[in-house]
Amino acid sequence: MSIKIAPSILAADFGNLSRDCEILDKSVADWFHLDVMDGVFVPNISFGMPIVSSIRKMTAKPLDVHLMITEPEKYIDKFIEIGSDILTVHIEATSKMDNILDKIARSRIKSGIAINPNTPISKLKNYIEKIDLVCLMGVHAGFGGQQFILNTFDRLVELKNLIKIKNSSALIEIDGGVDNTNNKKLESLGADILVAGSYIFKSPDINKAISSLK
Ligand code: DX5
Ligand code: ZN
Repeated sequence: MSIKIAPSILAADFGNLSRDCEILDKSVADWFHLDVMDGVFVPNISFGMPIVSSIRKMTAKPLDVHLMITEPEKYIDKFIEIGSDILTVHIEATSKMDNILDKIARSRIKSGIAINPNTPISKLKNYIEKIDLVCLMGVHAGFGGQQFILNTFDRLVELKNLIKIKNSSALIEIDGGVDNTNNKKLESLGADILVAGSYIFKSPDINKAISSLK
């Protein structure tokens, strides 16, 4: 499988959101990555359901919704209903992970668990067989435009091993600080999906930037 690219809308121009979504829709990007932040689980507020619903109408590409919110269990039904295709919750944000994964498993959509840089990979071991995706953070969740944490490479190797040992089919997504200086190494170590915000949207040519990560 060739690497998938999921541009993060967080770095788009919100005054021209439909224009930017149209560019992505017509591009070789595979998924739309949508960062929902609540100002509690992370110290930043981004956007919520109305924006996700609006973007749903602008593309048929999969919506990869990354919930950086506390008690995500309260909002799972809603995010399924408004058209998420992959719903990812943080392992650090809930004590109800089993309930959340059961609920997503009963729906038509795919499940993901996101893990922050300081959380041991071993915390995933009870869930790794049940999920479709791990979102391995390359930065501390909360803001776009941060520098990639180099230790993520070692964590990726550890995660890949865990997936192998547990015979899991979970895909690995890398989120935060991804650009054309680390994409090749991430791919060679086994990443399946790369999320990129600033690198894509700050570039003078969005299409070229997406292609350069492929
Ligand atoms: C960080 C978000 C990322 C972010 C990526 O909390 O989860 O998806 O938008 O942005 P860049 O690529 O700028 O690090
Ligand atoms: Zn994200």
